Amino acid sequence: MKNYRIAVIAGDGIGKEVVPAAIDVLNLAAEQGGFRCEFSPIPWGCDYYLEHGRMMDLDGVDRLMRFDAIYLGAIGDPRVADHISARELILPLRQRLGQWVNLRPMRLLPGISSPLAGRGAADIDMICVRENSEGEYCGIGGRLHRGTPQEVAEQTGVFTRHGIERIARYAFKLAASRPRKMLASATKSNALQHAMVMWDEVVASVAKEFPEVELRKYHVDALCARMVTHPQTLDVIVASNLFGDIITDIGSAISGSLGVAPGGNINPDRTTPSMFEPIHGSAPDIAGKGIANPIAAIWAGAMMLDHLGERAAHDRILSAIESVLADERVKTPDLGGRATTADMTRAVTAAMTGSRQPA
Ligand code: NAI
Ligand code: MG
Repeated sequence: MKNYRIAVIAGDGIGKEVVPAAIDVLNLAAEQGGFRCEFSPIPWGCDYYLEHGRMMDLDGVDRLMRFDAIYLGAIGDPRVADHISARELILPLRQRLGQWVNLRPMRLLPGISSPLAGRGAADIDMICVRENSEGEYCGIGGRLHRGTPQEVAEQTGVFTRHGIERIARYAFKLAASRPRKMLASATKSNALQHAMVMWDEVVASVAKEFPEVELRKYHVDALCARMVTHPQTLDVIVASNLFGDIITDIGSAISGSLGVAPGGNINPDRTTPSMFEPIHGSAPDIAGKGIANPIAAIWAGAMMLDHLGERAAHDRILSAIESVLADERVKTPDLGGRATTADMTRAVTAAMTGSRQPA
């Protein structure tokens, strides 16, 4: 029997609630699909930082290399500054594990209402391919004369031809595989005359390999507006690290809730493990109450199984999510209902086994 070794970093806040819930669903999918997932919990995160003074172990990256994939909940705690929690765990893992694609589906699932009036499931079905290894989040820069009136901060964006070319090619391939075959490139070459002009040139040169894909470029501000006013005109979006980060929060908001949106940090070269996580953070405002929506984590887990080669298991989990949401009887508070994390998880496993959900 196939056995996948998966490192689990549940992290902080609701990460500790939605990850165990989602693991129940993944275990069921494995049982039904005739494979095994061996989950190894790793205690990194803000509690670990408060105890040990670091977000993860020094040999952390090397240890993660032994796994087939990494499953992450959420990182962040009001007691630890966000730039420490993000910069010392998630961002270095993405960079050092070569996870250069951040893949984020943004779909309005039937049964969920969008905050955009009059929009239904047919209108919002996009996926963002975000550059995940360089750009605005490369971490280069510094501060000088701290705390004095002369203080300076410099934050540099780094864009390489190699980096843009590979993310563009990944996005074109994805667009070519989808029915509408449309790719929107997020740029800002009117104002960022070095990096974004090169971005446009490289994207245009990769476009020649994919004549079947319709490429449009939008300045990122106009693209954000278009996601709200004409979401049905967008299919695949390719974006730099910062632009993709912002675009995908809009995408998950118009798709109904952050509690539903998944993401994958993928190394398409498969030389290192990829990492899958819900887009949302640790939600300190609802942590500990047992009411977090586990769908984003479950969907991220399904993306992980797909990446590992278990497409049928992915599809089974997605159908179960779709049928539970379309049924509308079980809704967590973020979707306007009163169900708990456990209720929602049970509804998904019930849909997978074909048993009736409790009303
Ligand atoms: P957040 O995503 O944690 O929460 C934003 C809002 O969405 C909150 O009102 C929260 O209750 C709600 N929400 C999020 N996920 C939900 C779910 N599954 N079910 C129901 N409601 C949900 O973002 P916020 O508040 O800006 O950040 C909180 C902490 O999380 C910070 O420390 C931040 O740095 C961290 N963070 C970590 C991320 C990660 O681990 N990848 C991503 C984003 C934020
Ligand atoms: Mg974000």
